Amino acid sequence: MCGIVGIIGKPNVEKELLKGLKKLEYRGYDSAGMAFLDKDGGLRILKETGKIVNLEEVVLAQDIESTVGIGHTRWATHGAPNRDNAHPHFTDKLALVHNGIIENYKELRVELSAKGYPFRSETDTEVIAWLVTDYLNQGLKEFNAVEKAVARLKGAYALAIIFNRCPDLIIGARQGSPLAIGYGEDAMYLGSDALALSSYTDTLCYLEEGDLFFMKKRGAKIKDKHGRWVARKIKTLDLAQADSDKGDFDHYMLKEIFEQTQTIKKTVDYVFDLKKKTPKDLKDILGFPAEIDFRSLKKITLVACGTSYYACCVAKYWIEHLAPISIEIDVASEFRYRTPFMEEGGLAVFISQSGETADTLAALRYCKKYGQKILSIVNVPESTIDRESDVSLFTQAGPEIGVASTKAFTNQLVILLWLAVKIAFEKNVLKEEKQDKLIQTLKDLPGLIEEGLQDSKKLEVIASKITHAKTALYLGRGISYPIAMEGALKLKEISYIHAEAYAAGEMKHGPIALVDESVPVVCFAPFNQLFEKTASNIEEIIARKANVILISDKEGLDAMGDKIENRIEIPKTNIFSEPFLTVLPAQIFAYYVAVLKENNVDQPRNLAKSVTVE
Ligand code: G6P
Repeated sequence: MCGIVGIIGKPNVEKELLKGLKKLEYRGYDSAGMAFLDKDGGLRILKETGKIVNLEEVVLAQDIESTVGIGHTRWATHGAPNRDNAHPHFTDKLALVHNGIIENYKELRVELSAKGYPFRSETDTEVIAWLVTDYLNQGLKEFNAVEKAVARLKGAYALAIIFNRCPDLIIGARQGSPLAIGYGEDAMYLGSDALALSSYTDTLCYLEEGDLFFMKKRGAKIKDKHGRWVARKIKTLDLAQADSDKGDFDHYMLKEIFEQTQTIKKTVDYVFDLKKKTPKDLKDILGFPAEIDFRSLKKITLVACGTSYYACCVAKYWIEHLAPISIEIDVASEFRYRTPFMEEGGLAVFISQSGETADTLAALRYCKKYGQKILSIVNVPESTIDRESDVSLFTQAGPEIGVASTKAFTNQLVILLWLAVKIAFEKNVLKEEKQDKLIQTLKDLPGLIEEGLQDSKKLEVIASKITHAKTALYLGRGISYPIAMEGALKLKEISYIHAEAYAAGEMKHGPIALVDESVPVVCFAPFNQLFEKTASNIEEIIARKANVILISDKEGLDAMGDKIENRIEIPKTNIFSEPFLTVLPAQIFAYYVAVLKENNVDQPRNLAKSVTVE
């Protein structure tokens, strides 16, 4: 949801800004822009609609000599994605970039317009530019003007501002949207996340909620929300973690799908510490975390958004299968506006790839207020959700750049499976045979994933048959139902084909009315105790001439015989391995449909990777 960068003290600042913006493009790509101070002290603004490459073309054609600048990549909230609404927004005194939403912008706009300030855009952001300018016009110094302006803002913001009178100054603030300061040699940097800063430096500090700061090329000073000057902890970033390119793959998404073998191994190693010991029984691998008393736990609440929410749905099946505990799951944007009852001392679990999703964070804060222990599963250490949690567990997926989440999901599942086992073990309900089966499943997972990725070319052929479809159905039963939901989401996100997921048994209660020969129906039906029931539902669909794509193991495919032409074989599964193996073909299938439709797979229209607005 918009990304910002800032640099002070570095020659060729425009080229450096482009580097950071490219790393942030996953946060939004409706437009991009930058502002810098010319050698004669004048402010120059360059903006373009669309992707960073459009901006790059314009920037590289200019003669620029500057060492201070700010940049922005936009995911439109207020106002269409056109050049006027693109950031930076500017006045005669300053230029500003913003990530977040200013909720009281309408009142401020009325007030500032009445004073004669000429608004140029439809954005909420522009009011900040004119508000700071108004305080400067009243005679305040730059820092005081920004301090006074942000005190009047309601909503979320990460801000960076440069001023035409000040060649060695960037002022910024953080409230509700992430921002980090990077330290270089005779240069300072600013970025929405560590990934952006990794282009410049490995030394950084994260700003806290309510922080206001100024930076010059030799350092930064930070004032906290209580008005005290503070020092934030400076950390060293693991640049290898932050670095990411497509390698030999055509798209990040495909690379990330194929990375699942290695990343899942890393997450299994991380959780179970298998590197150091070969567990004989679960006591060896379930020592952590001491902060949570799983034994007395009566209820567990799992909350997330998007793909991470479907990971919660899978976990519900596992936890219910293994342990006697009440479990509630919800999408964060609904959960936080209900009034869910939570007994003091319960456990609330938040799942987020980015660790920055605004709704998930708001739900976390709500649960904290009601006395829940907070456990988070995130892919980005030091993200806001990590920092606000009592305990965090880290998926080892590495940076995920493709907007449609793939490897983050399966890595979340590894940790959630561990969580289910942990609860059952602590509650003393895990039978020995099941313990062995679980340990074996986890050890086998990377190999199974590798096997599951073998049939990808066949999926391309099947994908070519549905590119013209207007709508598709995804069906699954039991633990394959959430995978049907995730599969449908993948197809929607990148192919723009409407796709709807249903519990297979619900077909006859409505969606079967949609079925005819033009509707592809993707069915997840491994050969397990639910197979016969799903097989009957598949028969009902075949009878209505739909184009069935069946994802099952050898026994399942054999049982359906040659009634089904489009067949994808997955390895034999059990309830623990099933979601890992069924989601792979769903990811690859969606990928090929999107590629064949010549869509932008990694940056699908209207979406952003990290949603930091509510
Ligand atoms: C966005 C992304 C999805 C992601 C969701 C939740 O919608 O495009 O891929 O699943 O946010 O993000 P999180 O970072 O909290 O997992």
